[in-house]
Amino acid sequence: MPTPLLSRRARPLTGTLRVPGDKSISHRSLIFGGLAVGETTIAGLLEGEDVLATAAAMQAFGCAVERGADGVWRVHGRGVSGLDEPADVIDCGNAGTGARLLMGVAAQQPITTFFTGDGSLRRRPMGRVMTPLSQMGVQFVTRAGGRLPGAVIGPEVLVPIEYTLPMASAQVKSAVLLAGLGAAGETTVIEPKPTRDHTETMLRHFGAEVRVEALDGGGRRVTLVGQPELTGRPVVVPADPSSAAFPAVAALLVEGSEVTLPGVGTNPLRFGLFETLKEMGADITLANPRTEAGEPVADLIVRAGRLQGIEVPADRAPSMIDEYPILAVAAAMAEGTTVMRGLEELRVKESDRLGAMARGLADCGVRVEVAGDDLIVHGGGNGVAGGVTIPVDLDHRIAMAFLVLGMVSEEGLAIDDAAAIATSFPGFADLMNGAGAAIAPGPEAA
Ligand code: S3P
Repeated sequence: MPTPLLSRRARPLTGTLRVPGDKSISHRSLIFGGLAVGETTIAGLLEGEDVLATAAAMQAFGCAVERGADGVWRVHGRGVSGLDEPADVIDCGNAGTGARLLMGVAAQQPITTFFTGDGSLRRRPMGRVMTPLSQMGVQFVTRAGGRLPGAVIGPEVLVPIEYTLPMASAQVKSAVLLAGLGAAGETTVIEPKPTRDHTETMLRHFGAEVRVEALDGGGRRVTLVGQPELTGRPVVVPADPSSAAFPAVAALLVEGSEVTLPGVGTNPLRFGLFETLKEMGADITLANPRTEAGEPVADLIVRAGRLQGIEVPADRAPSMIDEYPILAVAAAMAEGTTVMRGLEELRVKESDRLGAMARGLADCGVRVEVAGDDLIVHGGGNGVAGGVTIPVDLDHRIAMAFLVLGMVSEEGLAIDDAAAIATSFPGFADLMNGAGAAIAPGPEAA
């Protein structure tokens, strides 16, 4: 049964809002914990459906994964190439990151692992990881077009490769490096545009040897020495900047708001949205900057104010790839035009986010254009009409983006199904309502 929600005009948003743990780092902490020998403790794990599916997957590979009464998760790993062959199909739910990283895990030893996922994940392309892993000797059986369900068949002997990413994708980089753990020799990934580096940071944290060289033009060359001994480590997961984006933009847009978002990850390869919002004139302060378990974090203080439309260059996209839906909402409320360039990867996310944002904003009365892979939003500088229901198509970020827009709409704005929000931001509506939002079951309440 779908659970529609209606977001009406909000009171000024105030208070300290604790955003859940980083999804990228949460998936990786469970995976590296499972590939390490000894105990890994994880504080602040995102307990969303995507990550819980990865926890179940690591259990299926024979690792002990449990949540302590103190909320700290403990993983007892099996070591590199020490996993069991899962006895059943691994269901990654909605999680592209879970699926693609776990396909790399499944590749690093001679076992056969079956994967599936929900309706969204089953339409997403897996060819992007199958191509490099095939070069390493891995075999696959999938539906047409490299779609799940599918099986990964790890070879007896993995061939280490050097692979240049054809698209900016941390998931593909990570899948190759994870498979490379099982190969004798050096596995190298060359990324023409830098993408989030949590895999490299964590590989080192768990004891692997990783070299990173900067390339001309901003790219990187990442080399992993294969067959390392990984050792269980403590991990502290920062609050997710991709989730913090929603209350942050809400606070910018709802007049009179001021919120504090503590302990948010500020890794520059993840922080493009906040850089962009500041260029648009946003009042965002980074207080108490510090480093926690190898990742930079800060407390974000966000105050409402006017935003100006700007041009967002294509080379910034990898550092804010998940944030375009909420940036498009901010752009709709800014004065003037915002041009977001180079968004081809948005078409293969949990939904076609380029199409979903263009259609949804147009339905709300915003002037929007899609030109090739660019999204152009003509901001009204004021509220939107609303009064419509947006189909979210199993996409958590489309759902949350339009609930934020509802907070500044004349007639309220509904989404047809809130279920997907639990993949990354359990408790989103309650947290926002506690700060001053008015999100309630709907749309029959409209
Ligand atoms: C992620 C990488 C990005 C991002 C996803 C998380 C990761 O995907 O969209 O939400 O944790 O590596 P791509 O690598 O496909 O761009």
